[in-house]
Order: sequence, then structure tokens, then C-alpha cells
Amino acid sequence: MRLRHVGERERFVRWLIFTLLAAAAGAAVYAMTQPQPLEPPAVFSPAAQVDAHRCAECHSTLYEEFQKAPHRFTLRPGNDSELIERFRGQSIDLFNDTYQFDKVQGMLQVSAKAFPGRRSVDWIFGSGHHALTPVTLLENPRGETEMFQFHASWYPDHGLGLTPGSMAQGETASIGLHHSATETLQCFGCHSTFLAVENGQLDLNRSVVGVTCARCHPGAARHADSEGELPTAVDWKALSPLDSINRCGECHRRIEEFTQDELTTENQLLIRFAPVGLALSPCFQSQAEASRSVRMDCITCHDPHRPAATDPAYYAQRCNTCHAPSQADSTPCPVRPQGSDCLTCHMPKVKTSDYLAFTDHWIRVREPEKAKAFHAVPSK
Ligand code: HEC
Ligand code: HEC
Ligand code: HEC
Ligand code: HEC
Ligand code: HEC
Ligand code: HEC
Ligand code: HEC
Repeated sequence: MRLRHVGERERFVRWLIFTLLAAAAGAAVYAMTQPQPLEPPAVFSPAAQVDAHRCAECHSTLYEEFQKAPHRFTLRPGNDSELIERFRGQSIDLFNDTYQFDKVQGMLQVSAKAFPGRRSVDWIFGSGHHALTPVTLLENPRGETEMFQFHASWYPDHGLGLTPGSMAQGETASIGLHHSATETLQCFGCHSTFLAVENGQLDLNRSVVGVTCARCHPGAARHADSEGELPTAVDWKALSPLDSINRCGECHRRIEEFTQDELTTENQLLIRFAPVGLALSPCFQSQAEASRSVRMDCITCHDPHRPAATDPAYYAQRCNTCHAPSQADSTPCPVRPQGSDCLTCHMPKVKTSDYLAFTDHWIRVREPEKAKAFHAVPSK
């Protein structure tokens, strides 16, 4: 494990985030296997303060492709002109109030009866591939950064709609969902590459927002300084499958954050957390025993530098690297041994809120009737 030189305060903040993340998701149990302990998120390490432009010089093709990746765009400032156009002039009625978005002096602003005047949209979470959630920042009496997450988000197929977290809000109008300083750091922490934090105050001018190169490739600065001579700190191919999906799980969540009782097919909350479902799949668990050379982790189906593929045939091809009837020692599907869609029956998309659907990464045989009921259950 690589330890970097960090000040006591940063060490504390990192510890705090780690503890709270684990606590928030339920008591951590190491039920399944003993994964390699991960180093704390790179996001508070000065070594992560790397501008992705630096990588373009030698990795130009990959860099260009990455410009369309949702990871890259998952956090943007409220004055982004393209984003402003999605919201400006629109309003939505929620909690007996009307939330109105306007462009004022180049900034996106929100007005409602629940608060006097207008609040500026400081940052927008989400690439817009699934949702855009605007937030406004404030400083608490201790000078720490806190935020309100507005009740209205933008969805590609629906326009404005209720922000998922606001559903617990009930009927009371307010600026939005309030997040403490710690929660605010968590939100920014999973949507950024490097965060400059001074006594709990976020300095977003010095931060690197969006999930870019150095977040997944720690040691990238050193690697670039050496003209590519020194390797980056993590060789993904050398990781065990569980350590590999746990790295993605630093943000997408990890199985050991959940108790055994929570790990059931009925638990709709899991659907959002791809590494949890995948870790529970026979395909993942049996890969060591199977004599196949194909490896099962997130990279088997996703290139994190690009948007996720949307063609079912692409995924069927991935499945068939292990399950094609022509494959030695394969276990082909008795129902549809050949075909270009395996997802409908084994990895369906499931609605998790009014406007969001996620792919259930717990690959398994579902009884058709059970599968139907599964689809119909709306989540909280
Ligand atoms: C001066 C050229 C140069 C720059 C700048 C550079 N790289 Fe590289 N990089 C290389 C070379 C050369 C290789 C080795 C290619 C090979 O072996 O196939 C490499 C390989 C890699 C690899 C795969 C091997 C490993 O060590 O993990 C990653 C990941 C990587 N670079 C990431 C980055 C990132 C992120 C940046 C920006 C911070 C960056 N590189 C900047 C030249 C560079
Ligand atoms: C630093 C946090 C972080 C890490 C680490 C991370 N992700 Fe993500 N990932 C995100 C966020 C945030 C989004 C949401 C992007 C958006 O706003 O649409 C996302 C989105 C995705 C998507 C959906 C892309 C799409 O087209 O909608 C895939 C697939 C994905 N990540 C795979 C991975 C894989 C594979 C890894 C590990 C190699 C990984 N992620 C590591 C934060 C992370
Ligand atoms: C533990 C890391 C983590 C934390 C903390 C976190 N996110 Fe995310 N966020 C993700 C990942 C991973 C995705 C992509 C997959 C998904 O949507 O769950 C994502 C997706 C999103 C999206 C895109 C819409 C979507 O559902 O894909 C928005 C908007 C968002 N997050 C806002 C927030 C806000 C606001 C907070 C704080 C209240 C927050 N996130 C906290 C990891 C995190
Ligand atoms: C969400 C995590 C994530 C982000 C962000 C990310 N990478 Fe990667 N990268 C990976 C993973 C995982 C692999 C290993 C893929 C494999 O082994 O098939 C990889 C492989 C590479 C490689 C070697 C393999 C290849 O395709 O050439 C290079 C070079 C690289 N990344 C550069 C970059 C650069 C430059 C950026 C930013 C523009 C970047 N990466 C952003 C996760 C990420
Ligand atoms: C890395 C190889 C690999 C890949 C890729 C893979 N699987 Fe599997 N899968 C396995 C193994 C190993 C098993 C355990 C049974 C066996 O020995 O074949 C399994 C079991 C299954 C089962 C039986 C589950 C149960 O409940 O008993 C289904 C269904 C399945 N896979 C579907 C898929 C689908 C659909 C895909 C693509 C989305 C896929 N698999 C991709 C290796 C893989
Ligand atoms: C066997 C193939 C497969 C593997 C392995 C896999 N995914 Fe996916 N993933 C999919 C499919 C299929 C989709 C849906 C793509 C589409 O049509 O939008 C998807 C979509 C996603 C999305 C977008 C939101 C959603 O749920 O639709 C995220 C985020 C994601 N995957 C993360 C991950 C992470 C993290 C891992 C590793 C733990 C992983 N995936 C492993 C097949 C896979
Ligand atoms: C129409 C729904 C449907 C489609 C499409 C489908 N399957 Fe299946 N699959 C099933 C059902 C149902 C079973 C359980 C059959 C049984 O146990 O009799 C199953 C079983 C399996 C098994 C377990 C076999 C065993 O002997 O343990 C695997 C592996 C599998 N499917 C892979 C795939 C792959 C790969 C694809 C895409 C090429 C696919 N399936 C497409 C419904 C489907």
C-alpha cells in the first residue's frame, strides 16, 4: 500500500469521510472474502492535483475519447452555458411552492416563495446522462462549506422533476435538502479528482472537479513527470477481481459496506450499486474455479474512459466469451442459448425512482413471474 505524506488535518478528514461512508451504508461486515484494504481516497492527496491536459500529450486518442465520458462531466460549475440552457425559463411546482430557474447575469438562479430573493446555482452534479442536480453552497459559522441540494433536478426524458433525495422532505417547502459539511465533502469527494480543503472550507478554484485521470490512476503525476518512464501506482490487470471492482466501488459502493441481511434480491437499494450486485453473481464468484481465461470485473463490460455501451449485442458478446455453446466447459442458456440479448432476462433495467432506472448487476436466473413483480415494485 502506498502512503503519501499528508498533514494531520487531511489525515483526519480522510478518516472522517471513510468512517462516515461506512457508517452511512450500515455496519461494515467482511462477510464474503477478505479484500485487500484500500488506501484512503486519493481525492484529498496533493498527488491527485493533476490537470488531465497533461496526459493528452502522450495519450491523445484516449484523452479525446474521454472528453465524452460521463465520469469527466459528473460535476460542473453553475455558470456552464450548456447546462444553463437545460434549466433557464423553466419552473416546477413542488411542496406547495413554485421553483423557477432563470439566467441572471450569466448565472443560473432559483427563486421560490420558500426563500427571499434568488439563490444561485453554484454547482451541478451529474453528467446529464441520467440526471442533473443543482446545488447552492453556504458557509456555516465555523467557516466550513455546506450545501443545499435543490428539490428540482433535470432528467433527459422528462425535463424538471423531483430530486430523489427530496422525497423524504414531505410537504414543507424549503431552499432544498440541506447537507452538513461532512456530507458536502462526501458528495464532492465522489464526483471529483482532487479537492482542496482548508479547515473544512472547500476551495473549488484549486480543486480538480469531475472524475478524471489521476483519480483512477494514482501516481499519474509522477508517471507524467518521468515522461512515462515510471509506471502509475496501480496495475489494474494485476489486481484480484474483487480488488479491482472495489476500486471502482470506492464510489460505486462495495459489498462489505452492507450487512448480510441487506444482501437480498428483494433489496431494491442494491440495484444502484453495481459492484455489490456483480460481487453476488455466480459469474463473478465462480470465475476462479472456471478454467476460462476471461476475467470478470467491471472492465469486462465497461471502458471507464467512454460512456457505457448501449447495444445489447455488445453485452451478449461479453457473456458469450464464457457461455457460448461452442465454448469448452460452457454452461449455455437452456432458454436462449444463442442470441443478441441476454440482458432482458438476466440483467434487466429496474426503475429506482420516478425518473431513474439502473441496471441490475446481480446476474442470475430470475423466474419470469418473480421478475415481473420485481419490475413493478416502485422504490422509496
Ligand atoms: C511524456 C509522455 C507521457 C505522459 C505526459 C503521460 N504518459 Fe502515460 N504512458 C506513457 C508511456 C510511454 C506509457 C507506456 C505505454 C506502454 O507501455 O504501452 C504510458 C502508460 C500509461 C498507463 C498504463 C501503464 C501504467 O503504468 O499504468 C497509464 C494508466 C497512463 N500511462 C496514464 C497516464 C496519465 C493519467 C497521464 C496524465 C497524468 C499520463 N499517463 C501522462 C507516456 C506518457
Ligand atoms: C471517484 C469516483 C468514481 C470512481 C473511482 C469510479 N466511478 Fe464510475 N462513476 C462515478 C460517477 C459520479 C458516475 C456518474 C456519472 C454521471 O454523472 O453520469 C459514474 C458513472 C459510471 C458509469 C456509467 C457511465 C454511463 O455511460 O452512464 C460506468 C459504466 C462507470 N461509472 C464505471 C466505472 C468503473 C468501471 C470504474 C472503475 C474502473 C469506475 N466507474 C470508477 C464515479 C466513479
Ligand atoms: C460514495 C460516493 C458518492 C457519494 C458520497 C455521492 N455520490 Fe453521486 N454518484 C456516485 C456514483 C458512483 C454515481 C453513478 C451511479 C449512480 O447513479 O449511483 C453517482 C451519480 C450521481 C448523479 C447522477 C445521476 C445518477 O443517478 O446517475 C447525481 C446528480 C449525483 N450523483 C449527485 C450526488 C449528490 C448531490 C451527492 C451528495 C448528497 C452525491 N451524489 C454523493 C457516487 C457518489
Ligand atoms: C474511472 C476510472 C478511470 C478514469 C477516470 C481514467 N482511467 Fe485510465 N484506466 C482505468 C482502468 C480501470 C484501466 C485499465 C483498463 C484495462 O486494463 O483494460 C485504465 C487504463 C488506462 C491506460 C492503459 C490502457 C489503454 O487503454 O491505453 C491509459 C494510458 C489510461 N488509462 C489513461 C487514462 C487517462 C489519460 C485518463 C484521463 C483522460 C484516464 N485514464 C482516466 C480507469 C480510469
Ligand atoms: C468471466 C466469464 C463469465 C462471463 C463474462 C459471464 N458469465 Fe455467467 N457465469 C459464469 C460462471 C463461471 C458461472 C457459474 C456456472 C458455470 O460454471 O458456468 C456463471 C453463471 C451464470 C448464470 C447462472 C446463474 C444462476 O443463478 O445459477 C447465468 C444466468 C449467467 N451466468 C448469465 C450470464 C450473462 C447474461 C452474462 C453476460 C451479461 C454472463 N453470464 C457473463 C461466467 C461468466
Ligand atoms: C456483464 C457485463 C457488465 C459488467 C461486468 C458490469 N456492467 Fe455495468 N452495465 C452493464 C450493462 C448491460 C449496463 C446498461 C447499459 C445501457 O444500456 O445503458 C450497465 C450500466 C452501468 C452503469 C450505468 C447505470 C445503470 O445501472 O444502468 C453503471 C454506473 C455501471 N454499469 C457500473 C458498473 C460497475 C461499477 C461495474 C463493476 C462492478 C460494472 N458496471 C460491471 C453491464 C455490465
Ligand atoms: C427469455 C429470457 C432469457 C434470455 C433472453 C436468456 N436467458 Fe439465460 N436463462 C433463462 C432462464 C429462465 C434460465 C433458467 C432455465 C432453467 O433453469 O431451466 C436461464 C439460464 C441461463 C444460464 C444457466 C445455465 C445453467 O445450466 O446453469 C446461463 C449461463 C444463461 N441463462 C445465460 C444466458 C445468456 C448468455 C444469454 C444471452 C445469449 C441468455 N441466457 C438469454 C432465460 C433467458
